[in-house]
Amino acid sequence: MRQKLIIGNWKMNGDVQQCDQLATRITKTYLSGSDNVEVVICPPALYLQSVQKRLIAGKATLKLGAQNVSDYQGGAYTGELSADMLSDVGCDYVLIGHSERRMLFNEDNVIAARKVAAAMRAGLTPVLCVGETAQEFELGQTHKVVAKQVMDVVSIIGIRNFDKVVIAYEPVWAIGSGKVATPEYAQDVHAQLRQLLAQRDHWVAEKIRILYGGSVNQQNATSLFQQADIDGALVGGASLSADQFVTICALQNRQTLQIAS
Ligand code: PGA
Repeated sequence: MRQKLIIGNWKMNGDVQQCDQLATRITKTYLSGSDNVEVVICPPALYLQSVQKRLIAGKATLKLGAQNVSDYQGGAYTGELSADMLSDVGCDYVLIGHSERRMLFNEDNVIAARKVAAAMRAGLTPVLCVGETAQEFELGQTHKVVAKQVMDVVSIIGIRNFDKVVIAYEPVWAIGSGKVATPEYAQDVHAQLRQLLAQRDHWVAEKIRILYGGSVNQQNATSLFQQADIDGALVGGASLSADQFVTICALQNRQTLQIAS
């Protein structure tokens, strides 16, 4: 069975104190147990180290992730952070190709693929974010769009190592909008992505984790987690509340236990 995964994306929010407090609160509540689920938090890069200290102090099994990474390895790239640097400060995961980066910072599938490669070289787990815009959704182009976003990266990285990637399917129209995709719709997209990968490699398709993201909260999480091809969630807004985030992790945990029994 694929291990479930919940990732909190704090985006560009908070200051040192707020991030430390949030990490401490999540650590304290989370300790009471979501053991069957892997949980990752992605604070702003500047606060990774202080958040990491809180996680260690709280003896939490939570992992740390970054929200972005340079596709370059090191050297004269002013303002960039390399995958090795992220790994050095304790990151295990990194988000790549989030729709905000695609839309606001002109990142395309080639850049995403280069970043996935850079992350993997440094031993980080890349979380490749894909998803259709509202217009593409209305035109019925979802499958075409997400298939291209994934397969463009596969064609550069190769299918062999692709099981080490996590895919986050996040419809752009659902991000931060309060308009979550229906569980059936999300399941359909996830299943089609898995089938697409299976055409290249069955084993990779079975192993790869595909998360849903876009307005996930404690009210809608369970119905999403009940879907066979949804392996967890990428949570934005709701991850800024320790209580909400930990509840979402606990709901995923409960779902995992139900499947196992
Ligand atoms: P949201 O964000 O949960 O606030 O919709 C998700 C994301 O952008 O990863």
